[in-house]
Amino acid sequence: MEFPDYIKNTKLKEWVEEMVALCQPDQVYFCDGSQEEYDRLCNEMVEAGTFIRLNPEKRPNCFLARSDPSDVARVEDRTYICSISKNDAGPTNNWMAPKEMKETLQPLFTGCMRGRTMYVIPFSMGPLGSPIAHIGIEITDSAYVVVNMKIMTRMGKAVYDVLGEDGEYIPCIHTVGAPLEPGQKDVPWPCNPTTKYIVHYPEERAIWSYGSGYGGNALLGKKCFALRIASVMARQEGWLAEHMLIVGVKEPNGRKTYVAAAFPSACGKTNFAMLVPPKDFKAEGWEVTTVGDDIAWIKPGKDGKLYAINPESGYFGVAPGTSYHTNASAMESCARDTIFTNVALTDDGDVWWEGMTKEKPAHAIDWKGNDWTPESSTPAAHANARFTAPATNNPVLDPAWDDPAGVPIEAFVFGGRRSTTVPLVYQAFNWNYGVYLAATMGSETTAAAFGQMGVVRRDPFAQLPFAGYHMGDYINHWLQFGREIYNPPRIFGVNWFRKDAEGNFAWPGFGENMRALKWIVQRAHSEVPSVESPIGWLPNYEHLDLRGLEFSREQFDQIMKLNIDDWQKEVLLHEELFIKLYDRLPKEMINVRELILSSLWRTPENWGPTHE
Ligand code: OXD
Ligand code: MN
Repeated sequence: MEFPDYIKNTKLKEWVEEMVALCQPDQVYFCDGSQEEYDRLCNEMVEAGTFIRLNPEKRPNCFLARSDPSDVARVEDRTYICSISKNDAGPTNNWMAPKEMKETLQPLFTGCMRGRTMYVIPFSMGPLGSPIAHIGIEITDSAYVVVNMKIMTRMGKAVYDVLGEDGEYIPCIHTVGAPLEPGQKDVPWPCNPTTKYIVHYPEERAIWSYGSGYGGNALLGKKCFALRIASVMARQEGWLAEHMLIVGVKEPNGRKTYVAAAFPSACGKTNFAMLVPPKDFKAEGWEVTTVGDDIAWIKPGKDGKLYAINPESGYFGVAPGTSYHTNASAMESCARDTIFTNVALTDDGDVWWEGMTKEKPAHAIDWKGNDWTPESSTPAAHANARFTAPATNNPVLDPAWDDPAGVPIEAFVFGGRRSTTVPLVYQAFNWNYGVYLAATMGSETTAAAFGQMGVVRRDPFAQLPFAGYHMGDYINHWLQFGREIYNPPRIFGVNWFRKDAEGNFAWPGFGENMRALKWIVQRAHSEVPSVESPIGWLPNYEHLDLRGLEFSREQFDQIMKLNIDDWQKEVLLHEELFIKLYDRLPKEMINVRELILSSLWRTPENWGPTHE
């Protein structure tokens, strides 16, 4: 086989040859990551009907793709961690023995790229050559994947220079699983409607993805590599690969504090990563800037601090609900150079989705390609419709977002979507309590993954669908990691989604979350008092900066109070997770639970920070 002369890595060449023999593509194309290549592939997809070019006056350099209606989200039930030992994958992952999985996949991959082009994509997760970054090579038969990877990763020829002759990379093989017979016409969104496998071999550090063209199943640098495989690497090598956004918070005095925050999918991570401070804060000089909106790789530095990079270079954001009101920077990010998937097309060649504007367009083409009007009984955009936008479009991008050294993290935040029980913001007493808080986090389910919506699911570290190994070991890795840092970041819990008795959100959220963020930053620097509660330190009314927001003490109590009955039930639900993880659950979790229970036991029924 002929390789471009800049590819010198022997192992890589052998692997590509092996994959060509297996998948039998019509041709092989080595991506160079150039703009010319991106434009060409986009044009080809326009011709093939995969892409619709949007009105260049309204959305310059933007495209719309409509997926097959069966291929719209991550498929967790088809996602496997194939470790040699079943117990290493743990009870929260699907598992199959590697040998058996390979026997299953072999016939599926044999000839899977017939009639198609195989693209070889070199990419770096993180700034090229950063000591925190790692390299991957994705082989795919989807041009949609190539152009999305160009936005989402540092992709291109330069990766081969870092890789050299014998450098390490993560092999990622992806196929839409829809070979073309001679003369067969292709469809705009090929995928396999019945068979999908998203497979990880943690010991081999390899990823095999079959049958889906959708983001999280197909852009293998993201969830598959940067979370599932990287979490395994991180445990072995002493670092963290987390489902976390990273923000920089600049105070009026110029001090910059970086905070990493984990939220389950579709809980407003992108919004928090691009938070617009309230008027009074802005006037004073508070600024929030984005390093990343989804994933953080964190390694200890020589100075004992933790340094984080965003391994990605773009945003694969949820469109519905995004507006100039909820997230102006995300709107700016996707104003140009963006690939939209499963949003609606307006009559003037622009895009629209539920929640984008107050006024609905009188007519549009919905995500399935059908006529749509506000009277239609179905939504215009799919609930998990996405925009793939370059980070460099973000007007509040942090100046250090691309710094190979990473940014120092001073606080970790964990938050789920909880309509009851969990207060707006609280600080864990110490690292072990913080790990407990993160390990027992729960969230009401959303549309980012297939399955039932609106039930509380335990989502430890917001990593339930993304941990590449046993969740008990995951918790232990965090405990151990904290022991080795002299002054670990402080750990906080937040909940923007608490509801009042009428079922309305009791906290305005969005930019107003700055108020909780300010308290977090001040607490991280030990600068503001707090009140001790059974679960951690809480702000009192006087120390949560509520200036400019009409928010009474009663309202404050409503979002802060701990209902002891609810918390006793909550702790019982933690127990359900602990029983699942039983044989690998660190004893610290039981001990912290006992301590929480004992203080709940002696606490008045409706405990609030202002309780007399
Ligand atoms: C995502 C997710 O796409 O978490 O980021 O589902
Ligand atoms: Mn995510």
